[in-house]
Amino acid sequence: MDGFKRRLKDSLQFRLSLTLSISILSIAIVAGFFAFYTAFDEAHELQDDVLRQVATLFDRHGLNPPDKGDAGNESDSEKESRVFVQIVSPNINDNAKNGLPTLLPLPTTLADGMQTVIAGSENYRVFVKKLSTGQRLAVAQETDIRDEIAYESSLRTLMPFLILIPVLLLVVADLIRKIFKPITTLSREIDSRGDQELHPIPVEPLPSEIIPFVGAINRLLARVELSVGVQRRFVADAAHELRSPLTALSLQGERLANAEMSVNARERLATLRHGIDRTKILLEQLLTLAKVHAETERIRTNVSLQKVYRRVLEDALPLAESKHIDIGVTSSTDFNICANEVDLIVLVKNLVDNAIRYTPENGRVDLSIVTGKNEASLVVEDNGPGIPESEWHRVFDPFYRIPGNHEIGSGLGLSIVNAIVSHLGASIHLGFTNKTQLSGLRVAVTFRSTNR
Ligand SMILES: Nc1ncnc2c1ncn2[C@@H]1O[C@H](COP(=O)(O)OP(=O)(O)O)[C@@H](O)[C@H]1O
Ligand SMILES: [Mg+2]
Repeated sequence: MDGFKRRLKDSLQFRLSLTLSISILSIAIVAGFFAFYTAFDEAHELQDDVLRQVATLFDRHGLNPPDKGDAGNESDSEKESRVFVQIVSPNINDNAKNGLPTLLPLPTTLADGMQTVIAGSENYRVFVKKLSTGQRLAVAQETDIRDEIAYESSLRTLMPFLILIPVLLLVVADLIRKIFKPITTLSREIDSRGDQELHPIPVEPLPSEIIPFVGAINRLLARVELSVGVQRRFVADAAHELRSPLTALSLQGERLANAEMSVNARERLATLRHGIDRTKILLEQLLTLAKVHAETERIRTNVSLQKVYRRVLEDALPLAESKHIDIGVTSSTDFNICANEVDLIVLVKNLVDNAIRYTPENGRVDLSIVTGKNEASLVVEDNGPGIPESEWHRVFDPFYRIPGNHEIGSGLGLSIVNAIVSHLGASIHLGFTNKTQLSGLRVAVTFRSTNR
């Protein structure tokens, strides 16, 4: 019951469906009762009219009452239309004396007009009419039969309601579902958006009642976009401003290294220079992330992925060789992606850089291209420790590094990769190179054929 109440309170669709269904049912029940009783009454009135007409007929044509019921032929099959016609005499034995039939033991004191009387064990509806001959004619019909006929014809008036109610309920259910469909579609569209997709929601196909609400969301999106832009520009400007003093610091450190100094001082200088190098990497990555996030559309051309691999490998080879890592491209197929070349190079460079850094010495890093029917993937895999599945969703967060990581890094590499991937409309999947031992990181960036 609690669940029902909560649904009633929370769901507009449920409330509307329930209210409309109850209203339809209540109106239908009231209308049904009304129709039934009106039809029942009318059927009785019609039957009374028949009795009156029979009496008038007998009077007008001077007919004698038949010696059986039904004013003519009586048969069991036509019991429903049975009508009794007889003369009401002041004394019950007068009929016999006058050679008139007595079909029903009607009271001799019957008044003229329509009435309901008990004759024998049955109830009868009787119409008594004074004939032009001075005799009083009674036309009677069993009330049970009259009620049965009236009941059956009244039931028939309920048929349209019985058909209409389910049809109406189905129409209402369908209508409500259709009315709420734009909202469902809208929430699906918003849910499928990436973090950076702050463009306004199109109001075009929406019903006018929802447009003000969507308008408010759009204004909020615009404000969020503005403030995100301001923050990004601040980060980019700050990184840019820090670049020159840091370069100067790095130069001073280099010069200082050439000077005479004690072993202790040299050790401290090495730590200092290491710190400066880390900060330089962090600043470079920050600037790259700011550039990737910048709204300005960068020039896109058809870029060969093999060419991008070659460019990245050239830069990565010294680091790979220093760790005796076997790095290379394992597939000969190529495919072109419509993208900004620098973006693609930055993407692959970050993946390759991670693969070399996090793979132990004498390891292996493979770059390949996997083409499918409507898609193609660039794949970078290594035989290092890999990333535990529980961390897959977090490693894309800016500055997030897996605890216990001693490599130099900023925690921004995969954020940059992710930003480029969503900018290109591609998708990224992490996995294991060795699925049985759950080791080695395998990163696949998949481009749909529209990207090619
Ligand atoms: N090839 C890989 N093998 C193992 N761990 C990885 C690999 N690539 C990334 N990671 C983990 O994911 C974290 C985030 O990577 P990234 O965003 O590039 O930041 P960074 O490399 O600067 O630490 C890294 O700190 C590392 O722990
Ligand atoms: Mg990295």
